[in-house]
Amino acid sequence: MYHERGHGEPSLRATGLVRSFGAGETLTTALNSVSIDMYPGQLALLMGPSGSGKSTLLAVLSGLLRPDAGNVYALGRDLWGMSERQREQFRLDYCGFIFQGYNLFPALTARQHLEMILRWGKNLPAREAHERATDMLGLLGLAKKADLRPAQMSGGEKQRVAIGRALIKEPAFCFADEPTAALDWKHGEQVIELLRMAAHDEGATILVVAHDSRIIPHADRVFHLEDGCLLEPGIDEAERALRVIQGSKSLASGF
Ligand SMILES: Nc1ncnc2c1ncn2[C@@H]1O[C@H](COP(=O)(O)OP(=O)(O)O)[C@@H](O)[C@H]1O
Ligand SMILES: [Mg+2]
Repeated sequence: MYHERGHGEPSLRATGLVRSFGAGETLTTALNSVSIDMYPGQLALLMGPSGSGKSTLLAVLSGLLRPDAGNVYALGRDLWGMSERQREQFRLDYCGFIFQGYNLFPALTARQHLEMILRWGKNLPAREAHERATDMLGLLGLAKKADLRPAQMSGGEKQRVAIGRALIKEPAFCFADEPTAALDWKHGEQVIELLRMAAHDEGATILVVAHDSRIIPHADRVFHLEDGCLLEPGIDEAERALRVIQGSKSLASGF
């Protein structure tokens, strides 16, 4: 179900997140009191310059990196108040992850990557796992690539397998750190559309870190991180800024 911003209960609420690295001369404050609410059914895009804290924020929100201060409530549960084991179980049960480097297993085919999650993660019988993997491969446009291993796939195909693996368990949350960075625009756009479908059709809460401003129109919300501080300029303003950039590009190419 799709929720407009600010309506319904947030699926994830973070307040006052602080995270630093190093000490003394080398101290870097990656997150400087960041608060964010995210809602089911929405794809949120997180942008910002390199080193602005995007990966740190994603890791803190998803239970991978402990903040120095602040809280994260996910599905109403205090993520950083849990034991390590509870948090790991929470990630297994509710979170899908997609990274730039795909993180696929060289020995497994596209189909096996998906079936593995359902058989060993969700305890589904082989036949049901097979059927659901077939459906997902079709959705990903990988029906003909089902039996290929990563070495035989293009970057776009590998990233689609990684997305399939993250989405096939129908997670409440999906965290994607620069999933389009290694792809050309056509494949990058496909990736974002798949994530958007998971949000709009399945009610997932999706956070995508990306650089390419062409993704902005595909997002429900846009956040901007700069020096560890989070702003939400709003889609309209982000798109206006985009038009200005595009306008100046086409003007430049006209000369
Ligand atoms: N494990 C780490 N050790 C030391 N510094 C780190 C570590 N991770 C991130 N940083 C620093 O924190 C800041 C934010 O990093 P990061 O979250 O990776 O930014 P982004 O993903 O926006 O490029 C950077 O200055 C980076 O060098
Ligand atoms: Mg990063």
